[in-house]
Amino acid sequence: MSVRRTKIVATLGPASNSPQMLEQLILAGLDVARLNFSHGTPDEHKARAKLVRDIAAKHGRFVALLGDLQGPKIRIAKFANKRIELKIGDRFTFSTSHPLTEGTQEVVGIDYPDLVKDCGVGDELLLDDGRVVMRVETATADALHCVVLIGGPLSDHKGINRRGGGLTAPALTEKDKADIKLAAEMQVDYLAVSFPRDAADMEYARQLRDEAGGTAWLVAKIERAEAVADDETLDALIKASDAVMVARGDLGVEIGDAELVGIQKKIILHARRHNKAVIVATQMMESMIQNPMPTRAEVSDVANAVLDYTDAVMLSAESAAGAYPLEAVQAMARICLGAEKHPTSKTSSHRIGKTFESCDQSIALAAMYTANHFPGVKAIIALTESGYTPLIMSRIRSSVPIYAFSPHRETQARAAMFRGVYTVPFDPASLPPEQVSQAAIDELLKRGVVEKGDWVILTKGDSYHTIGGTNGMKILHVGDKMV
Ligand code: G6P
Repeated sequence: MSVRRTKIVATLGPASNSPQMLEQLILAGLDVARLNFSHGTPDEHKARAKLVRDIAAKHGRFVALLGDLQGPKIRIAKFANKRIELKIGDRFTFSTSHPLTEGTQEVVGIDYPDLVKDCGVGDELLLDDGRVVMRVETATADALHCVVLIGGPLSDHKGINRRGGGLTAPALTEKDKADIKLAAEMQVDYLAVSFPRDAADMEYARQLRDEAGGTAWLVAKIERAEAVADDETLDALIKASDAVMVARGDLGVEIGDAELVGIQKKIILHARRHNKAVIVATQMMESMIQNPMPTRAEVSDVANAVLDYTDAVMLSAESAAGAYPLEAVQAMARICLGAEKHPTSKTSSHRIGKTFESCDQSIALAAMYTANHFPGVKAIIALTESGYTPLIMSRIRSSVPIYAFSPHRETQARAAMFRGVYTVPFDPASLPPEQVSQAAIDELLKRGVVEKGDWVILTKGDSYHTIGGTNGMKILHVGDKMV
């Protein structure tokens, strides 16, 4: 039986809040539950988090919690009549001085004072994820006067982007700062920062997380044109994060859909090179909001991300507000498994030509080299504190499962997001040293992962509970006497 390696992130919302539905999603293979801090109250998030953890524990599953900060998405204000309809050639104005609840057919307010500074004549503005497009014709001290290039409906609070990026509100709002504290209190495992422009935004988020006493790993959502403008900025942003998300909604609007696929591949590649986990997100199964089966194009999109060796694929409205959340998770699981059969998902170029940065990294990569080349190896065991050793291992393509053996709750959940990594609660310090290898193998025997005669690779350090301390690798023969 093959085990799915690519992980599934699903956003929780009204369609997936009930204990029954959550249980079904977890049994169908949900690995990471995304809590969207743009919606809902702190109490609702806490209740949801508890439910996820309780149900996962009941089934012996490890599901990570990902808190997603709202970020500084710039939005238009409100219309007096909620919604207008724009036609090609219509004139329309965005004004920083127009009353915020009094939008009309000709003008709407916007609560972003720098709008006129950030945009100029000739710029294209995209509303509602690009459904409506306008060009700026003239600009005054407090308004941009535009002509409509693509018409359509426009309603209260729709998002606004500038083609090419550059609407540059700071990444962390006051609400985000409060939510970082909430996330720390809830002990979420991952915290996603929306619209970071560069490494400094991530460093600031890390500082706030530390001040709040949180331990969540930080996910940079790559969704601004600035973030992918050049390799230097992208790489610095990746390095300043623990994981990244290809947030295709806003990114696609800012850089254009034609560039998106190439950039997605680049972000995945660069994240893996820098030893970070990566999630591909947005509209992966969009039609499943209304339909019980995905389109061929959606199947192909998910499979493509799997072939690019992403760690995780994500559901948004499909699982949060759609009619078929369970079917969406099941479809994703099925498609991941199918795509993983492709030979490129099993072989690796082994970082040939690269130098390794540290002793533990060298051991992790040596373990993968051995696992991929020694045919009898059925599993890898990484004794780990923080999850770092299995994370490094899972940067290498392989079909051999990697088991993260850790005594810590955070690490057990965190590892749920890494491709090909599975969690086993285990504390080597609770055993006499000569029994550790056998006890570790027994855990895999118990799970039916290995049998007598198989080979297993085990990595560890000289002392227990030392982050970065891994300095040895053993090749164990299941059934032989171990010391
Ligand atoms: C466990 C092992 C140690 C090893 C550590 C590595 O605690 O018992 O021997 O040093 O994991 O943890 P890391 O967080 O670097 O993967």
